[in-house]
Amino acid sequence: MKEEKLLYEGKGKKIFQISHSKDQVLLFFKDDLTAYQAKKKGAFENKGEICRKISSLIFKYLEKNGIETHWIEDVSSRQMRCFKTEMIPLEVVIRNRLAGSTAKRLGLKEGQRIEEALLEFYYKRDDLDDPFVSEEQIKQLGLIKNKSLIKDIKEKSFLINKHLQVFFKRANLELVDFKMEFGLFKNKILLADEMSPDSCRIWEEKTGERLDKDRFRRNWGQVKESYQKIECLLFKTWKELSDFKK
Ligand SMILES: Nc1ncnc2c1ncn2[C@@H]1O[C@H](COP(=O)(O)OP(=O)(O)O)[C@@H](O)[C@H]1O
Ligand SMILES: [Mg+2]
Repeated sequence: MKEEKLLYEGKGKKIFQISHSKDQVLLFFKDDLTAYQAKKKGAFENKGEICRKISSLIFKYLEKNGIETHWIEDVSSRQMRCFKTEMIPLEVVIRNRLAGSTAKRLGLKEGQRIEEALLEFYYKRDDLDDPFVSEEQIKQLGLIKNKSLIKDIKEKSFLINKHLQVFFKRANLELVDFKMEFGLFKNKILLADEMSPDSCRIWEEKTGERLDKDRFRRNWGQVKESYQKIECLLFKTWKELSDFKK
């Protein structure tokens, strides 16, 4: 598919307009890796490909489970065709254990288990370092036009978490936390952007080995190998599930 006008280049992806449809965009996954609001930069070969593959797989799995996403089809190893959504400027984070910024901010041990999944909203603003926002602040700032959409987003997020926890567990992986971005398309809320080791904390279930972007953030090495391991385990599980249904 021909890439048309570049609409936006972000830290990890490029978004192109598609000539024959104003309603759709092409997402191109780059090899760049950034952390700490792009203060730390890096890259590795084929990162874009791995993240595109994992994202597509997760979107497909969720679609099969009745969750609407922006994903339409894979176009090449690094490109996916998606519905063009009006992005809601929030990062919705679900945590199944406490890690990262929340553990640090609350003075808790990283990896602390929590009884129920925790949902947090962050205002997607690079220039403000994506600050934490409360529901009241979201309403005050008018970040979500229709207030009932906040409820809708929360319900969808918890449901996505339920489905993904089952899928990851089957793959001997633990989904510790993850970040989602939602967009509006024809008055519907769609899960958009990407779902990859760049935006999720994923630990190997038995060993506790960390396989996600924390390896890059904290200079632990083996970043590419860890992303590949996630890809391999998720695809193996996807195949097993598909074979089972035949
Ligand atoms: N389906 C979509 N339609 C329109 N914009 C999208 C869609 N999915 C993701 N985006 C937006 O495209 C950009 C993706 O590029 P990325 O490199 O992740 O950017 P950023 O550095 O802003 O996070 C993000 O700003 C994201 O909100
Ligand atoms: Mg992004």
